[in-house]
Amino acid sequence: MRRFFLFTFPVIVLIFFSLRTVCSQELKENTQVEAPVQPSAQVNDPCAECHTRITPGIVVDWQLSKHSANDVGCAKCHGDRHNSMTDAANAGVAGLEVCAKCHATQVEQFSKGKHALAWGAMKAMPTLHWQPMAQVDGLKGCGACHRVGLKTEGEVKGLMEKGSGFGASSCDVCHTRHLFSVDEARSPQVCRTCHTGVESPQWEMYSSSHHGERFLLKQSRMLPEDAAAPTCQSCHIQEGDHANMTAWGYLALRLPYPEDAQWARDRVAILQALGVFDPAGKTTPRLAVFETYKFFNFKEEDWQAEREKALKTCNDCHSVNFARAELDKGDQMIREADALMAEGIRIVAALYRDGLLKKPESYSYAFPDLLSLHNAPTVIEQKLFSMFHEYRTRTFQGAFHCSPDYSFWRGWAPMQSHLIEIKERAAEIRATGGKAGEHPAKAAK
Ligand code: HEC
Ligand code: HEC
Ligand code: HEC
Ligand code: HEC
Ligand code: HEC
Ligand code: HEC
Ligand code: HEC
Ligand code: HEC
Repeated sequence: MRRFFLFTFPVIVLIFFSLRTVCSQELKENTQVEAPVQPSAQVNDPCAECHTRITPGIVVDWQLSKHSANDVGCAKCHGDRHNSMTDAANAGVAGLEVCAKCHATQVEQFSKGKHALAWGAMKAMPTLHWQPMAQVDGLKGCGACHRVGLKTEGEVKGLMEKGSGFGASSCDVCHTRHLFSVDEARSPQVCRTCHTGVESPQWEMYSSSHHGERFLLKQSRMLPEDAAAPTCQSCHIQEGDHANMTAWGYLALRLPYPEDAQWARDRVAILQALGVFDPAGKTTPRLAVFETYKFFNFKEEDWQAEREKALKTCNDCHSVNFARAELDKGDQMIREADALMAEGIRIVAALYRDGLLKKPESYSYAFPDLLSLHNAPTVIEQKLFSMFHEYRTRTFQGAFHCSPDYSFWRGWAPMQSHLIEIKERAAEIRATGGKAGEHPAKAAK
């Protein structure tokens, strides 16, 4: 053993030092590429002239944009009330209404789509006030993604007062400032900031599907430029229409109920757990919130119209026959996932009914509340929450986005294992007369 060490030690040291030299050379090469941003010499804008010293990166971006080429200077978007070193506080907020002056069509389309509702939908969540300020109005977590939504004048003022400053313009999430480039907005990467991770992993699903894989190979010039490969935008910003909407949406619910009687019963359980129906099956005030923010389609025709729109896009490259069958399979996965989901909900609801799980004071109805998000008070309800917001969604999102991994291993499979855990926990809670279901902090006392 010692002889082995005596021999290998110098070799390891040698490898270490030669690796270090290689790495530091690479580092040097990389740093040489990074040149500091330098605006080009002539800047024909009084604001930009001073800003070449204050914020050179912004001026370079603006110079590269279509705006500078078309005489849209800084003041066109920020007003001219600030123009010295000491009055920056007077600079105007470049909200959506500023873009509307010159791009009325896009603003009008955008206002009819789902993105426009994102801010209000987030604010409508009953447990939002439990999140830290930085996550919401600070635009760090929920607020960072949901900032794409329209805000009222009062809301914009509120953001400014809370020191969050910027967040007034919804347009700059895809055309980031100050390039405001259409090429960037056409790339699927721009959607990734928000459509990624736990709640909505469309980027992961798309980029690993044949659709995304092909597109990424095109971007790196491994495939010819004209090879067929759809982007997120081909399917969701069809022909440049900024009014994005899908048939099922995030919740994959729809009224009226499906014709299939069992599926209809499962749907009722889910709507009860969302608080849209009370435990007796009557509608609640939450229904109006769901309607305002279009959480799901309330008319069969609207759903059908979106489905036909999707099929028309598929038809650019596939036969309608092929595409319809593929989308049908997505619908079937929703039905299968709803059956597991409803079973989980019924188990937890029965614990409430039998007084074995205590209803938190904030809950309006004696039913588990899926809108309490990660603030659900007990482990069994946390499982139910994950089952709904992570795994049920992935099961069908993965099917629609041609990702076998998300549909099965990260969707359907964990739905089943969560249901088994819910069953086991429920049995424990019943065996201990409710003790096992108490909030962990309380049970420890
Ligand atoms: C004489 C120099 C000068 C001129 C001219 C000037 N600015 Fe500024 N501007 C500044 C300085 C300094 C700041 C503060 C920078 C900082 O916070 O780092 C600033 C900040 C800003 C901000 C950000 C405000 C904030 O709250 O962070 C905007 C937007 C802006 N300027 C736009 C303009 C526009 C539009 C014009 C022309 C109408 C203009 N500037 C002219 C120096 C100037
Ligand atoms: C004063 C008018 C004006 C305002 C205000 C304005 N734009 Fe523009 N915008 C233009 C003009 C002009 C063009 C160039 C049009 C062309 O080349 O056909 C343009 C082009 C664009 C493009 C296409 C860029 C490309 O790469 O082809 C985008 C995206 C854009 N603007 C976004 C915005 C956004 C977002 C706002 C608000 C923050 C905004 N614009 C405000 C006038 C304006
Ligand atoms: C990483 C970005 C991101 C974060 C962080 C985020 N969301 Fe979302 N949220 C999204 C996206 C993207 C969608 C649409 C997903 C889909 O349709 O699959 C969405 C959907 C929703 C919906 C459903 C809207 C509908 O029409 O059905 C609600 C409600 C919501 N989010 C609230 C929240 C709240 C509350 C938080 C914080 C506690 C939060 N989100 C955090 C990106 C995010
Ligand atoms: C087409 C409209 C448009 C033009 C032209 C424009 N801006 Fe902006 N600017 C915006 C938008 C949109 C924001 C973000 C506002 C928000 O989110 O509330 C912004 C934010 C800013 C900010 C604060 C955010 C940051 O990143 O520091 C500064 C500083 C700024 N702009 C300076 C400039 C300067 C300097 C010019 C001219 C070289 C300029 N802007 C031209 C639309 C514009
Ligand atoms: C979800 C991403 C997204 C958002 C948000 C967005 N855009 Fe776009 N925008 C796009 C895409 C994608 C295109 C290119 C469409 C195409 O291929 O023709 C585009 C194109 C444009 C163009 C160029 C149109 C042309 O024919 O050259 C303008 C101008 C524009 N957008 C303005 C806006 C304005 C104003 C807003 C805010 C209301 C906005 N966009 C918000 C994705 C977005
Ligand atoms: C080949 C077309 C296609 C591509 C590419 C595509 N999608 Fe989708 N997307 C769909 C279909 C089909 C649905 C389900 C429509 C329905 O409800 O019937 C969907 C649904 C969605 C939804 C609603 C929730 C869900 O996942 O079911 C969001 C959000 C979404 N897509 C975003 C994206 C993003 C972001 C990208 C790129 C990273 C992307 N999509 C790429 C076709 C596509
Ligand atoms: C700044 C974050 C952000 C970016 C960037 C973004 N989205 Fe979204 N998107 C959201 C949020 C949040 C929602 C949910 C809004 C709601 O339902 O209230 C959403 C919803 C959607 C929906 C509607 C799903 C439904 O419920 O029917 C589609 C489709 C979609 N986005 C596609 C895209 C595409 C394609 C891109 C890129 C071109 C993109 N998004 C870029 C945050 C973003
Ligand atoms: C711009 C062209 C284009 C569009 C639009 C398009 N696809 Fe595709 N699709 C392809 C290509 C290319 C492939 C990979 C080659 C193949 O398998 O045929 C593919 C493959 C597929 C596959 C097989 C995936 C696999 O893993 O083998 C399915 C399923 C599919 N597409 C469904 C759809 C659906 C559904 C739509 C509409 C919502 C759609 N596609 C829109 C080009 C497109």
